[in-house]
Amino acid sequence: MHTTALIDEIRAQVRAWRARGETVAFVPTMGNLHAGHIHLVNEARKRADHVVASIFVNPMQFGKNEDLDAYPRTLADDQAALTAAGCELLFTPTPEIIYPKGLDAQTFVEVPGISDVLCGASRPGHFRGVATIVLKLFNIVQPDVALFGRKDFQQLLVIRTMVEDLSLPLEIVGIDTVREASGLAMSSRNGYLTADEKQRAAALKRALDQLASDIQAGMSVAQACTKANDSLRQAGFTPDYMEVRSARTLAEATDADRELVVLAAAQLGKARLIDNLCFNR
Ligand code: PAJ
Repeated sequence: MHTTALIDEIRAQVRAWRARGETVAFVPTMGNLHAGHIHLVNEARKRADHVVASIFVNPMQFGKNEDLDAYPRTLADDQAALTAAGCELLFTPTPEIIYPKGLDAQTFVEVPGISDVLCGASRPGHFRGVATIVLKLFNIVQPDVALFGRKDFQQLLVIRTMVEDLSLPLEIVGIDTVREASGLAMSSRNGYLTADEKQRAAALKRALDQLASDIQAGMSVAQACTKANDSLRQAGFTPDYMEVRSARTLAEATDADRELVVLAAAQLGKARLIDNLCFNR
């Protein structure tokens, strides 16, 4: 696998592949790779002739009091894991390469509506940072297909909306969440948890499962959310949000909606964990 921080090197390699009529799949990440990221690479290999990944801890998507500096950086391990998974090209730019004018002096992408609720309400500017970096990465790599995890359900919808609204010529594929045996969704931020917290963290997925079956059994959405939040508090979480929405649009769920998603964010120790579960009623 070739690793480069240089935009021109990425473009030259992708151009050479394209000239041979070969296709390219892209997996953008912030590094500190776990089995969830590697699953995306494995799925990418099935969908194109070549796989390109990126590792960039994107300062534009972090709030002022968030964990940008603490975010784990493990490049050598990440390179080994990507190589083993069959990734051929890795883009590792610096902030100066991506944002030469600084964060506040450049064009950005805003996806209205969907970016303002849930994680967007708790993290103002977060999805503007995500949409901007993802569009820049798409323009640098120019992939045929890009893969994203459903674990970041709202992020996936923001990206799908941007791709549709801006007529971007690529396919977006969503991939199911990879979990620990306990049910805990794999996340780079799980590394912030102590051993004891990591055990208690499995309560998040259990609360989502319970909420889905409560609603399927006829409990009101409001009652089911209150119950789920209570169980999170008992496990030591400080819940941020727990909401049931239409799985297609993320609009507030109405009685007519059958395809639902419950999305949750909650703080446990130093980690802000998110998870979601799609279900039908
Ligand atoms: P990061 O958190 O590193 O995640 C990179 C990709 O891996 C995202 O598409 C995310 O949804 C996916 N992913 C994370 N945990 C997963 C799991 N347990 N199972 C399956 N997929 C999982 O998301 C970002 O980086 C950034 O916001 C980025 C899109 C790279 C823009 O900076």
